[in-house]
Amino acid sequence: MMNQRGAKKRAQFVPWRSAGNRTETGGSADEIVRSTGWVFNNETGSELTLEEFVATGDKEVTRYMHQFGFDADRLAPLTLLEIGSGIGRMTASFTEQCANVIAADVDAAFLERCRETVGKHGRADRLTTTHVQDGSTLALANDSVDIAFSYITLQHCQRNDALGLSREAVRVTRSGGTVLLNYRSWVISDVFLIPAGILVRLLWRMPAIGKRISATRWATRFGWQANRLSPDEVLQDIIDHSQKSLTDITVYHSPFQVRHVSHSNVQVKVLKRVNRSHWWLVATVRGA
Ligand SMILES: C[S@@+](CC[C@H](N)C(=O)[O-])C[C@H]1O[C@@H](n2cnc3c(N)ncnc32)[C@H](O)[C@@H]1O
Repeated sequence: MMNQRGAKKRAQFVPWRSAGNRTETGGSADEIVRSTGWVFNNETGSELTLEEFVATGDKEVTRYMHQFGFDADRLAPLTLLEIGSGIGRMTASFTEQCANVIAADVDAAFLERCRETVGKHGRADRLTTTHVQDGSTLALANDSVDIAFSYITLQHCQRNDALGLSREAVRVTRSGGTVLLNYRSWVISDVFLIPAGILVRLLWRMPAIGKRISATRWATRFGWQANRLSPDEVLQDIIDHSQKSLTDITVYHSPFQVRHVSHSNVQVKVLKRVNRSHWWLVATVRGA
């Protein structure tokens, strides 16, 4: 397991720790959403409330779960793990729909706020949280969840952490359960975005200005784009390192971006209203 010192030094964690620190300065849940909401969702505004913020998550949860074949009756008895819950934008909705929800995040302060969000807009009695201390390992037993879900999180991790969390998602999902994992892969604008991201992450490390710019929207939007992973890379890593296997594998992508998958037995499908740089891995986990 990666030690804590190593994890603390990783530039990929800077924007989350910076926003997480802001959540610890106190303030109402609405104030916290206004000051940190933009790191979780593009819709921000000086008037945004926690209720409106959670409504954006509810809409996306309903849409994606429906598209992936998980309507209310199917979700009702299940335990769902959300990797990268943040302050609970989607978590509140998951707790309304599932029997149990485990929210996992690299920032412990976010998890505290996540509990607050779910307390106000979801079912706190169905929520537990787990801190991803090293950025790649889940402190959960094998086969402990029915669904492992992650949205706009794995793209922000260092590449090895994203692959590690993907393997962990498979490990903790019971045989017959499902992984629903969202990634980001290459698009043409990366020619500019990737070097800009490297530059910003270097600046974050500089004592004089790092702290200041890590709390700004413009810098974070460049610096947090930490990896690009293709479906083949993720699938190969799981095949090579996981004791379990995947069946019924579907890769979903935007209608505006062609994605080639060379692994056999993988269906490739278009999903409407998916960001053109994103893709989803949807698959059934089978025991070792
Ligand atoms: C863009 S936010 C998305 C939050 C939530 N999924 C949503 O849609 O509102 C990304 C989240 O991933 C978390 N995160 C980033 N790197 C992580 C890692 N290595 N392990 C766990 N969580 C991580 C951040 O702290 C942040 O809460």
